[in-house]
Parts: sequence; C-alpha cells; structure tokens
Amino acid sequence: MTPSPLLHSLPLARWAGPVPASTCDRAIAALEAGKILFLPQLAFAIAPDESDLLDPAVSAAGRKNISFDTATGEIGNVAGNPSDAARLKALLVRFAEQSTGLAHGLLPRYRAALEIGRTSFRPVEIAGREYSPRHDDRRLHVDAFPSRPLRGKRILRLFANVAPDGAERAWQVGEPFAHFAGKLAPKIAPAFPGSAWLLAQSCITKGRRSAYDHVMLQLHNRAKLDDRYQRGAPRSDLRFPPGTVWLCFTDQVLHAALSGHAALEQTFYLPVEALAEPATSPLRVLEKLLDRPLV
Ligand code: SIN
Ligand code: FE
Repeated sequence: MTPSPLLHSLPLARWAGPVPASTCDRAIAALEAGKILFLPQLAFAIAPDESDLLDPAVSAAGRKNISFDTATGEIGNVAGNPSDAARLKALLVRFAEQSTGLAHGLLPRYRAALEIGRTSFRPVEIAGREYSPRHDDRRLHVDAFPSRPLRGKRILRLFANVAPDGAERAWQVGEPFAHFAGKLAPKIAPAFPGSAWLLAQSCITKGRRSAYDHVMLQLHNRAKLDDRYQRGAPRSDLRFPPGTVWLCFTDQVLHAALSGHAALEQTFYLPVEALAEPATSPLRVLEKLLDRPLV
C-alpha cells in the first residue's frame, strides 16, 4: 500500500507483548485525530484445518456477516452443520482474544474503560452485491447503530483481512468528521417527542436513544442516501492486503468498503471520558456545532 496521511502504520508483528509507551501515545493520537492505524505485519493466523470456514457458503443465505457475542457465546447466520458452527466459534473466540490483547497492549490508556462488543466474520464478496442504499457500506458513512444507543460512547473497530486468495479489502476514506458534520448536522430536525421512549418501550432499541444517537443515525442515513454527496465528496482509496490488520474509530472516520471478502472484525466501545482528547469525539464536535448538550 502506498503511504497515506490517513494511515498511521506500525511495524507490530505480534498480537501480545509490550509496546513502547511512545508508540502507544502516537497510536492513540493518530486514532483520535481520525486516522486509521495500519499494522501491515500483523496477520491473524488461520489454521490449515480451518481454511474451509473461509468459504462464503458458510454464511446463511443472503447474510453478509456472521456475528458472534463473546459474552453469551451466541453465533448467528451460520449455514452448514453444527460442527462448522463450533469450529467457527472457536476461530472467532481466538480472534476476539487476540484483538482484545492487542487493544490492551497498544492502547493502555483505554484499557480500564474499553468494552468488548461483537465479533464478526465477513466471508461474502462486497462488490457486485445488491444492497438498499441505507445498508450499502460501499457508500461513505460513519457507523451508528439503530438498535444500540451509545449516548456518546465511541465505536472502535479492528479489522483483519484473512482472504486466502490474495484479495485486498478496498476502502475509501472521506473528509474529516467536523467538515462532514458541519455540512449535514445543522439540517437535522430533532427526533419526535416521545419517539426515544417508544422505541425503547417496544424493544426496538436496547435502552433509550439520546439526541446524540438520533443525530448520528441521521448522519449515517443522510450521507448514504445523498447521491450528490456520494458523487462529490472528497475521498482517498486505501487497500488492505490479506495478512494485515487495521483499526479506527468508525463513528468518526467516514469510510466505504468497496470490495473484498473474508475479513474478521472486532468492535469495542469506549466512553468519551477515556479519550486523551475528548474534544475530538463526534459527541463533543456535534455539541459544539449544534450548541447544545446531546446526552
Ligand atoms: C463498514 O463498516 O462499513 C464495513 C467495513 C468492512 O467490512 O470492511
Ligand atoms: Fe461502516
């Protein structure tokens, strides 16, 4: 991959082990500045007897992700026999453990507050599939979850390309969050009074949406549905080869995933207060822009 100012590359080759404090500080500063930490020498190892699990057919018909919850051991969307599901679960547990170890070692400032979210396997080729615009991650967007209100908490995601055939994962990364939000956020109307209560009451959301969650979801949806924004927005191409790892705050980094298959992903959540520079968070940027508290 050609060097890009959007990437902060680190020569780490091991998931566990001590990382010099100066490297940790630089990694945190880069992440909070909206860059992607790129670890070109860190591969997630797939054992020879696991290679059949990388086949897209492992995913239940029509589903792009297999999602796993380390807290409950629940795995969703696996096709095939129960032994495949058990083997895939073991692979995802290992990935979740290694990812968490890496996050703890590389981002020690976050360690005490870091929450482990879901783990996913994305076996299906992104290019050439049909998606509704709102579900089309090939369109530039920031991540926001319709059913999981975050009340300002950050979304940190770690990805590993494990494609067995050399396929790179092609991303585009857009403009800084504050520029993007400056264009779209002032046009967002507040949520209907009582809607957050109603959504929580009917279990559509896990807990009540804050004004922050409403604005972030609207930013996600409006960016994806705005054909003019999608055509004209500034962007850079990035390509992540197999055998590499990258991580970023996907609630802040405008991103689009254009092609690739066989990626693993680990989600983490982080309270804004745990950041070195809370002012860089979408919560604080939006509060400043809209001149009101959002949680
Ligand atoms: C996304 O979060 O938009 C998808 C990223 C990917 O699967 O590469
Ligand atoms: Fe996304």
